[in-house]
Amino acid sequence: MTVTPFDPRLGLREQLACWHEVAAAASAHDDPRHASLPPAARAAALLAPRPDGRVRRWLGCADGAVVGLAELFLSDRENLGWGFAEVTVHPRHRRSGHGTALLAAMRAAASDAGRDTLVLSAMRGTPGPAWAAALGARRAQELWESEADLGALDPAALGDRPAPGYRLVSWSDEAPEELLASYAAAVDAMADSPDGGLGYESAPNTPELVRARERCAREAGLQRRVVAAVHEASGAVAGLTVLEIPLLAPELAHQDDTVVVPAHRGRGIGLWVKAEMVRRLAADGGVVRRLHTTTDPSNSHMLAINDRLGFRLVGVREQWKLPV
Ligand SMILES: CC(C)(COP(=O)(O)OP(=O)(O)OC[C@H]1O[C@@H](n2cnc3c(N)ncnc32)[C@H](O)[C@@H]1OP(=O)(O)O)[C@@H](O)C(=O)NCCC(=O)NCCS
Repeated sequence: MTVTPFDPRLGLREQLACWHEVAAAASAHDDPRHASLPPAARAAALLAPRPDGRVRRWLGCADGAVVGLAELFLSDRENLGWGFAEVTVHPRHRRSGHGTALLAAMRAAASDAGRDTLVLSAMRGTPGPAWAAALGARRAQELWESEADLGALDPAALGDRPAPGYRLVSWSDEAPEELLASYAAAVDAMADSPDGGLGYESAPNTPELVRARERCAREAGLQRRVVAAVHEASGAVAGLTVLEIPLLAPELAHQDDTVVVPAHRGRGIGLWVKAEMVRRLAADGGVVRRLHTTTDPSNSHMLAINDRLGFRLVGVREQWKLPV
């Protein structure tokens, strides 16, 4: 196999099409429950910049066709010894060493960038974990993937209650300027969520990073919606939940951060903001049909809230660490 760097911003239209073809074939094979992303949505995601680091990509070709893809994310803010690597081989071309060859390219690039560890992420029940183990990687964390079917929920009976002394504020895409600083600080409280032993270290969030994330999400074709609980006495954001809706495939939205600042915990704010998000989606007429979320199995508070909102386990994602 030949492995060549691929920059979607400079790439040929044919290369983008090949990337989509391999990704779509792998997703239909490994994840048949979900419809594959439309080509335009995948292209938007490939072309969007990252606010917090750089992404390098490679195409793997054999017998004149693209048969594998590799993507390496190098954060420039946190976990500076790591590279987050993804390898995808077309299902018809597996077990021929292509995945291993693509990984070798990423290992070299990670090493050149001064990283000592690759973090690989694979769904249990697909070939990914056995492949990672064969390469000498170590399983470091498991995460539960859950989904909620919004059509099966009664938005008026989600069991949440307003927290006295707090009001809800919601927005799409851009945080209101007057809440920006306290919103950025509240997101920081995510740092104490359990990471199951992976050893992830978060750098402090900033208002500039919030704005950069908002811009990048827009460029990637994602609508970012936020419901926040504001503490009336201080005017500060006390808790929040973020949802990302792919505008070209809105049926399945991804539940991003949900966090309550430690001083405001124990008042039902986590359930309240998430339930409000669900009510707002229902009021939109049901364009978003299902929500997807990823939770560490030891995060019992979040799991209890998700259970109340109808989330059910659909799979287990494993994170593997491989010395470079
Ligand atoms: C995981 C994946 C990348 C492997 O690609 P591949 O080209 O088939 O892998 P390789 O041919 O390099 O396999 C190397 C070794 O890994 C192990 N391996 C790979 N697939 C395996 C499977 N399905 N079952 C058991 N062991 C497997 C074997 O030891 C294999 O050597 P062998 O074929 O000589 O026995 C591919 O199945 C894929 O794209 N999966 C979906 C995405 C994914 O999970 N990526 C990995 C995490 S980033």
